Amino acid sequence: MKPDATVAAVDAQALEAAARTVIASASTPDELDAARIRFLGRKSELKQALRTVRDRESGLALNALKDTLETTIAERRAQLLAASAETDGEPFDASLPGEPFARGSLHLITQLRRRIEDVFLGLGYQIFDGPDVDTVFNNFDALNTSEAHPSRAQADTFYVNERVVLRTHTSPSQIRAMLAQEPPIYVVSLGRCYRRDTLDPTHTPVFHQVEALAVDRHITLADLRGTVEHFASAVFGGDRSVRMRTSFFPFTEPSVEFDVTCYLCDGRGCRVCEYSGWIEVGGAGVVDPAVFEAVGYDPDTWQGFAFGFGIDRIAFLRHGLPDLRLFWENDIRFLSQF
Ligand code: PHE
Repeated sequence: MKPDATVAAVDAQALEAAARTVIASASTPDELDAARIRFLGRKSELKQALRTVRDRESGLALNALKDTLETTIAERRAQLLAASAETDGEPFDASLPGEPFARGSLHLITQLRRRIEDVFLGLGYQIFDGPDVDTVFNNFDALNTSEAHPSRAQADTFYVNERVVLRTHTSPSQIRAMLAQEPPIYVVSLGRCYRRDTLDPTHTPVFHQVEALAVDRHITLADLRGTVEHFASAVFGGDRSVRMRTSFFPFTEPSVEFDVTCYLCDGRGCRVCEYSGWIEVGGAGVVDPAVFEAVGYDPDTWQGFAFGFGIDRIAFLRHGLPDLRLFWENDIRFLSQF
């Protein structure tokens, strides 16, 4: 009798069952290869049947069986591979997180500088950058600093030549800001300053300052006080009070030095504030009319205040650091703490 053309020449179910048993019991890659050749090789029963199949239904069934067996073999191969990795003593767990690698951070001074900039930007001030190398005129003369003032001495200031210095404070930015624009002016200038100090735990010849300048009509010392209080609370945290002591600067009149209640003890007295309850922050005052005249502003129309302080010193106090030189040594053990 002629075989029924619609019936495949193999019993697909029986073949699948047999193949699965053999594949599952293969315990080495070689055994698995042998199983693959036996069930899927060119001369295998399945491939022969596929070659002679004539009807669509058998073709689909046999092809589906071929796919199933290929998948089963691939899965078994992955199992064998994983098992052999384990016996090599290196279990591989793809779900483990990767090795973290250290990310750098900004230098503490940079972090604080940006924070201070944010506070002043919030008050509507503009950031105004002045150069580190400036003229004697901007650094001293226009700031009403007489020829005889001790800060002009060669022993205190780095001179590039007779008319050019490494700025000794950020105050020359006041002059540049006023020459560059008309009042009203609200600017803050932050950057490096240079003085011929010998390196020790509390002095570095390079340091950072913040300078704030407000020029408008009817500005008084009370505006200065409110601004400093706002700034100190934002940077130190909490509600800081400000105390002013009379002082002298050539470019402000009256001049004050200002202190802020200690951030650590809130004014009760502790080691950080040397049991005074106050931390000295910087110098300030009402802009001297001579400075306005130097930049061509009418001192009868405009008033202003200015203040300046050291960023390094604030960072130093804020973090209870033992030595300012740490800021310059680039020791990663120090830097990575912030
Ligand atoms: N420039 C002064 C200093 O370096 C600080 C200061 C700034 C004082 C602005 C008054 C006004 O000590």
